Amino acid sequence: MSWHRRHLLTLEELSLVEIDQIHATAAAFKRTLSRSVKKVPALRGKTIVNLFLEPSTRTRMAFDMAAKRLSADVISLDAASSSTSKGETLRDTAENIQALQADMIVIRHAAAGSPLYLSRILDIPVINAGDGAHEHPTQGLLDTFTMKEHLGSLRGRKVVILGDILFSRVARSNIHALVKMGAAVTLVGPSTLVPHWFTELGVQVSHDLRGALADAEVVMLLRIQHERQATGHFPSLGEYTSMFGLNKTRASWLDPRAIIMHPGPINRGVEIDSDLADGERSVILEQVTNGIAVRMAVLYLCAGGQPENVMPTE
Ligand code: CP
Repeated sequence: MSWHRRHLLTLEELSLVEIDQIHATAAAFKRTLSRSVKKVPALRGKTIVNLFLEPSTRTRMAFDMAAKRLSADVISLDAASSSTSKGETLRDTAENIQALQADMIVIRHAAAGSPLYLSRILDIPVINAGDGAHEHPTQGLLDTFTMKEHLGSLRGRKVVILGDILFSRVARSNIHALVKMGAAVTLVGPSTLVPHWFTELGVQVSHDLRGALADAEVVMLLRIQHERQATGHFPSLGEYTSMFGLNKTRASWLDPRAIIMHPGPINRGVEIDSDLADGERSVILEQVTNGIAVRMAVLYLCAGGQPENVMPTE
């Protein structure tokens, strides 16, 4: 089946077939990354602009590396060095980037819906690199790609997402992908950060950390998103950690084969202890590495490339 989508805005709108196509294409690009010559000529002559109007380490660098591995030219712009700091609107900034002959724009923005907005006013592909608390589709794709590398098919697999779900774009993108892939997802955390209405997305909500961890094949930790919380949703960080932080005792409730994930940035000693973040079961840095291949696949497909054949995993 061919690929028709020009923009990557959300995982909510992607079909299971499209998610599988991105994963299959990422797997092919991942193989090229272990060669001595890591570059492929797929996007030679194209210019990609990374417009990051919120801070980022992993996503911005991975998009940068992905574009370079595809032989594209890359220009990165952040909030401090762009004219948005002088009052220019997002629309004007984006239209100027297009007028400068960019072929694609990757945007991170604090406002939910800003990538969708740009996709409606620009003629070039728009890739969402995180919009407010809404979605972070390439993170959801690289997380599920990493899970598949460890578990094979995710159908029926038990995934616990633990932490600040309410303000997490990573949680939303993972939920949309995991539910389509047939995983059994349980969200855990304080009731103020994991409201019951999330069950409408096809997941379970639990405040019983021990019970949820005992069943989990994957546990994904999320940090507290202070930058998006207008008021305190729990008494203090110390109380959050004492109730929900993943420490040695709580990790002993997990099956020894369960993997530990985190999208980063990690707040060590808050949502996860250092021993576990750096331990044998942690795949946190594998997630980061997989972010390059997954973003290569997204850039390549949205630029008009065609997907690798999907290999059945069941
Ligand atoms: N996971 C993630 O989005 O990290 P950055 O904010 O560093 O890009």
